[in-house]
Amino acid sequence: MKVLQINIEEIPESELKPKYESEENMGFGQIKTDRMFTASYRDGTWKDLTIKKYAPIILDPTAVCFHYGQTIFEGQKAFWTQEGHINLFRPEKNAARFNLSAQRMMMPEIDPEIYLTGLKELLIIEKDWVPKSKGSTVYIRPAMIGTEPCLGLRASNEYLFFIILSPSRSYFPEILKLYVSEQYIRAAPGGMGSAKTGGNYAGSLLVGQVAKKAGFDQVLWLDAIHRRYVEEVGAMNIFFVYNDVVYTTPIESDTIVHGITRESVIQLIQDFGYTVKEESLAIDKIVRGIKEGALVESFGTGTAASIVPIGSLFYRGENHIIIEFKVGSLTKKVSKKLLDIQYGNIPDPYKWIVRVI
Ligand SMILES: Cc1ncc(COP(=O)(O)O)c(C=O)c1O
Repeated sequence: MKVLQINIEEIPESELKPKYESEENMGFGQIKTDRMFTASYRDGTWKDLTIKKYAPIILDPTAVCFHYGQTIFEGQKAFWTQEGHINLFRPEKNAARFNLSAQRMMMPEIDPEIYLTGLKELLIIEKDWVPKSKGSTVYIRPAMIGTEPCLGLRASNEYLFFIILSPSRSYFPEILKLYVSEQYIRAAPGGMGSAKTGGNYAGSLLVGQVAKKAGFDQVLWLDAIHRRYVEEVGAMNIFFVYNDVVYTTPIESDTIVHGITRESVIQLIQDFGYTVKEESLAIDKIVRGIKEGALVESFGTGTAASIVPIGSLFYRGENHIIIEFKVGSLTKKVSKKLLDIQYGNIPDPYKWIVRVI
């Protein structure tokens, strides 16, 4: 096995940030730790692997990322366990998905060993920043941007990869009110919907604001062609529970993000004895299922929010209520099981956890 050379820059004690005072009030994504991991791509290879002080990035105004959107990112978490370990959840899946996003955006892949070793080393150095209370984590944001100055439309020849850490309070699962978007779509077949690239998220902001103003929490996206089949929600995949059969959008299409939480939840609920069907559900059928009482629960899955119950869908001027106050039993059960594995409260038969310390 080759040993990676990571240059670790000293930060004078006086330049270290004060730690947060309360884990209760950390919020999400607001605090950043003292250091970041960076690597540069030039002349066809990744080099300059460094852990250095968290600081602004200075780029030429013509850097490709500013104009032609060569940006990709990941989102993952580190969990502090009762035994004093730091757990990562399936980090190799994030590294693999990062490289799929890179391929789609004509960006260079990064050796998963650079990604994973850089992340682990950064977490070890920053271990005092990992919050210890239940419901708190370190949110991890790996990202890559095209940095070469170039106004002509072409792929950058130079890139920056970086990983930053944000001690965060997990969102508590409130019950979500969804707004079904028929006018705007998020992704089309052949597009870049499965890549975690900035443009997909920028394109969702307008309708997100329409939904918020109308009193809804998140947008439920429909497919681009028929404006009928459910795709995903904001930064989450979606599940619908019809007693012991559970449906979720298939990932064969390239229009949704292939969620790592989604894949794990499918495994968990199959092991609970449910049948999981990876099939596209039409919104009119879902509405009928709600009206007839056949659709008993729905939940979203994603790293940032974990598993979130869905209370209602607003579609064509009518609000369809699935649950009002009481979270469904499968939603609760699968959410507890996933968090217990992530925080190391129970054994991990799936070998999903990678222990850092
Ligand atoms: C659009 C979108 N869908 C789904 C997900 C859920 O993916 P994961 O469970 O890997 O966080 C994410 C988050 O990465 C996302 O951005």
